[in-house]
Amino acid sequence: MILPIYVYGAPVLREETQPVETNSEELQTLIDNMIETMHGAAGIGLAAPQVGRTERLFVVDLSPMLEDLEPEERAALPEQPMALINPEIVWEGEEDVAFEEGCLSIPDLRDEVIRPEQIRIRYQDRQFNTHELTVGSLLARVFQHEYDHLEGILFIDHLSAFRRRLLKRRLREMAQGNVEAEYPLALPTT
Ligand code: NI
Repeated sequence: MILPIYVYGAPVLREETQPVETNSEELQTLIDNMIETMHGAAGIGLAAPQVGRTERLFVVDLSPMLEDLEPEERAALPEQPMALINPEIVWEGEEDVAFEEGCLSIPDLRDEVIRPEQIRIRYQDRQFNTHELTVGSLLARVFQHEYDHLEGILFIDHLSAFRRRLLKRRLREMAQGNVEAEYPLALPTT
């Protein structure tokens, strides 16, 4: 089932998230719905707060981006889509890179964000097996963006004060419900 995506201004995008303690049919359904919602919105990542939930959980699917990956990255890519439960970033590389990001909760707005190029992440998959992965490039970027959502952080929070000032009016309009997308939205005002 495709779920509506909460838009910038919705309080749930800033709320504290809770660790997932137990597996359940409801959790598995939520993961399935989040993957379907991400695919329906042509996104490559989606975090629980974006569908109005507070579980520490996000889903990722880089399959549409395979051609943008280096051959060795493609070979090392875990099976997609992925669900990451209770993720923790346990290490960040020293080198930072700039990369243009967007967010399904902030339609039509993209900007360059500087983040570590490499990270190591520990998480549980949907069977609750624990994994630890060191990743770089696009996968590291998506993991960090989605992880931020679980901390109530949006990519625009990483921009310079100057860039944020330029976007301020558009964001205010968005938070007032003046926004459209080609996928179902839960507007802040509803
Ligand atoms: Ni996002």
